[in-house]
Amino acid sequence: MDQEVAAVKVFVAGASGALGIPVLRALVSHGHEVTGTTRSPDRRRRIAEAGAKPVVTDALDREAIRSAVASAAPEAVVDVLTALPRPGPRRAADLRATNQVRRQGSRNLLEAARAAGARRYVAESFFLVYGDGDHGPEPLSEEAQVPAREPSPPTREAVDALLAKEGAVLTAARGGRIEGMVLRFGGFYGAGAGTEEMIDLLRRRRLPVPPRSRGVTPWVHVEDAAAAVTAALERGQAGGIYNVADDRAASLAEFARRLAEAAGTPPPLPLPGFLIGLAAPYLKRLLVDTRLRLSNRRAKEELAWRPAYPSIAEGLPAVVRQLKGGSA
Ligand SMILES: NC(=O)c1ccc[n+]([C@@H]2O[C@H](COP(=O)([O-])OP(=O)(O)OC[C@H]3O[C@@H](n4cnc5c(N)ncnc54)[C@H](OP(=O)(O)O)[C@@H]3O)[C@@H](O)[C@H]2O)c1
Repeated sequence: MDQEVAAVKVFVAGASGALGIPVLRALVSHGHEVTGTTRSPDRRRRIAEAGAKPVVTDALDREAIRSAVASAAPEAVVDVLTALPRPGPRRAADLRATNQVRRQGSRNLLEAARAAGARRYVAESFFLVYGDGDHGPEPLSEEAQVPAREPSPPTREAVDALLAKEGAVLTAARGGRIEGMVLRFGGFYGAGAGTEEMIDLLRRRRLPVPPRSRGVTPWVHVEDAAAAVTAALERGQAGGIYNVADDRAASLAEFARRLAEAAGTPPPLPLPGFLIGLAAPYLKRLLVDTRLRLSNRRAKEELAWRPAYPSIAEGLPAVVRQLKGGSA
């Protein structure tokens, strides 16, 4: 554990999710005393195995979440709430539940954190808050306007929900009501974060990628993302916004090709972009049509965060080794 940082009681909402479980492990490994939520009694065990105390509650139920946070009496609260379908979102409609939990659930959690006297608050956001489409070749810093480009119809609702979630946290921080921070993540990959499902699609030749596209987007290994949550909780500035992505953006085609090579599957199936767009309009706007690089300089300087996997070239083979039972 970092000797300068005192261990504190942390409440993690969304603890059973793709990011939640690595966040629990990272916080516990730093000596923090962690409570983690799920709506499902079946998932309590997963949270306990990660070293945290499970609590069953629903963030959309204002009274329930208020009482759960009050009982845990945390010094810090982490919001990693999403409600995504298992294979990941393809259409705008797949984001409806997540948009709702980002608007209402996250607001209830913030209120509950303040009511319980929590001092620090770290909230998950996503690079899509900058808007989809072509942002040019230069990496965006946190100073860029959000959205920096007008979102297209398949992503508009998701961008609005991210803005609402960020806005609530940053307004509370500016008002001195809580030391709130926002982390704008690249796309997650890793064990438990959709990569197994992608390998399975590759094996069945069901993962299409466009043969030509200018799109590149930021990525982050989910364990690096979890390390950034811990670093923000321990060292982030109140009101801080941090881009959390590895050092090199990459296209979906490169991601799929590298994953196929690492996992020993057939290569991804080339399919024209417009056909991908018919089946998965949101995914195509997000990962095929968007050219967006993130500067991670602020996270490195202020949080002393360094991605253990500087790009997918190192990260994807490590994930495959981990899934095969070796160490990453
Ligand atoms: N999370 C991401 O940002 C992300 C990124 C890339 C890919 N994916 C893929 O998307 C799929 C689903 O992601 P996921 O595993 O993170 O699950 P998820 O269904 O998005 O849930 C994330 C977390 O939020 C919690 N949650 C959702 N609604 C809630 C509510 N109303 N009140 C309290 N807690 C609530 C879930 O708890 P419960 O235990 O109650 O469900 C879970 O802990 C996976 O296949 C994943 O690989 C996710």
